[in-house]
Amino acid sequence: MGSVTSPDPLAPRLPSPLHGIRDDRFARRGVRLLLKRDDLVHPELVGNKWRKLAPNIAAARGRPLVTFGGAYSNHLRATAAAGRLLGLPTTGVVRGQELADRPLNPSLARCAADGMRLHFVDRTTYRRKNEPATLAAILRAAGAEGAYVVPEGGSNVEAVRGCRALGEELRGHADLVAVACGTGGTLAGLAAGLAPAQRALGVPVLRGGFLEAAVQTLQEEAFGARSGTWSLADRFHCGGYARTTPDLLAFAQDFEQRHGLPVERLYVAKLLYGLLTLAEEGAFARGTTIAAVVTGRPDPEGGR
Ligand SMILES: Cc1ncc(COP(=O)(O)O)c(C=O)c1O
Repeated sequence: MGSVTSPDPLAPRLPSPLHGIRDDRFARRGVRLLLKRDDLVHPELVGNKWRKLAPNIAAARGRPLVTFGGAYSNHLRATAAAGRLLGLPTTGVVRGQELADRPLNPSLARCAADGMRLHFVDRTTYRRKNEPATLAAILRAAGAEGAYVVPEGGSNVEAVRGCRALGEELRGHADLVAVACGTGGTLAGLAAGLAPAQRALGVPVLRGGFLEAAVQTLQEEAFGARSGTWSLADRFHCGGYARTTPDLLAFAQDFEQRHGLPVERLYVAKLLYGLLTLAEEGAFARGTTIAAVVTGRPDPEGGR
């Protein structure tokens, strides 16, 4: 009898599918819109989560994982899912000590159900989590000393290098590649992977204007220098993280109906809304092909 090898639970579908959609509002402006379906890369590590976590899991070499996030963090959920799939202990350090005494929201409940140990810290400590002494104290209190630390949002050197493959998959397929940005790690890698004639556009979903410097720093750490041609369109955050406007929600619902694409509201909707607004303002030359990266999908459990 031959030996039985168990399938890799993190096996991705790569390259992720790329397909054009017919949208008259873009077509009128001479713009072709493609969707890069990174939401189909892995059923549980959706989109950029797989691209960022897989290289970190390899670097952890079987050590437990500890990471950080807010109460609705997609990244915490993806890390917890990876832990369950791989049989790897995970700890999630959650922003907000006050949450420790409340029932878990659906997103954190899912993390816990996947076996993640949740450790709540006050907001001041959380803000200082990258200072070595504070980090050491958090890890000690969480019982996670010796664990492999993945930063908030999952964006470190390994993650950024992992996201370079996203750009490489899009070589020769579009003039402009657009992606929604939280920490900027996905944009940093993607831009570095594109061909020299291609451009990347990031649409920040957080307010604060910190992203230009953050992406540059991530690229310097991962590749030694600013890499590729990229810029930010910083006016589509709709008020900040997890904020929405009636216009944005109406746009997302309409887009779902037109194209049969489930539109994740906190990142992907802002990206597509930003692209449509820019197209209607004439920001793209006629004949431009844009690939929009679908980095997530709506959460059926009501988390974010
Ligand atoms: C669905 C989705 N899209 C985009 C992003 C942004 O990724 P980054 O933090 O690399 O900018 C995130 C980040 O968590 C996300 O959950």
